[in-house]
Amino acid sequence: MIETTPSEMPLALRLRRAFSSFPTGVVAVCALPDGEDSPVGMAMNSFTSISLDPALVAISVANTSRTWPRLAEATSVGVSVLGHGQEHASRSLSAREGDRFENVDWVADESGAVHLEGAALWLTCHFHRLVEAGDHTIALLGIDGLQHFDEVEPLVFHQSRYRSIVA
Ligand SMILES: Cc1cc2nc3c(=O)[nH]c(=O)nc-3n(C[C@H](O)[C@H](O)[C@H](O)COP(=O)(O)O)c2cc1C
Repeated sequence: MIETTPSEMPLALRLRRAFSSFPTGVVAVCALPDGEDSPVGMAMNSFTSISLDPALVAISVANTSRTWPRLAEATSVGVSVLGHGQEHASRSLSAREGDRFENVDWVADESGAVHLEGAALWLTCHFHRLVEAGDHTIALLGIDGLQHFDEVEPLVFHQSRYRSIVA
């Protein structure tokens, strides 16, 4: 049962606030559509590791997303775990208007996966399975390649604010 402290706040907002108390990283999920020069992509914090064999990660995407239908058509997508200096990239890749990739350094590989320069980790993935989950869709992504940048500290998202890991 959902906790019932007296509140005028709508349930969706209360849930959003409750979920935000779980600190996460931020990933950029990006791809270069066939025959195009400009990538599509979005910032996400629902990323989680799922399985070692087969190698799987998951993201959860709002069914209202306008970017998702284009991303979901890609054969290959890049997942970049953002570094602590990439708050601007997260803001840009979640913007509703304008060019999301302006002032964001990206690189596409031959599969069409797009990764961001300055990230802590790059994964190259294909779509393994989509699972309907309420007002979101869980996408299970199979990992085809990875590259670590161990010296890069991750960006942290907590209570709707960007933070860094401090020793
Ligand atoms: C830190 C952060 C994390 C986000 N995580 C998710 C997520 O996990 N799933 C999702 O669907 N949208 C997420 N968003 C929102 C998307 O980045 C984007 O703003 C939203 O999908 C609206 O744009 P669109 O209609 O082009 O998809 C996140 C935004 C930010 C700033």
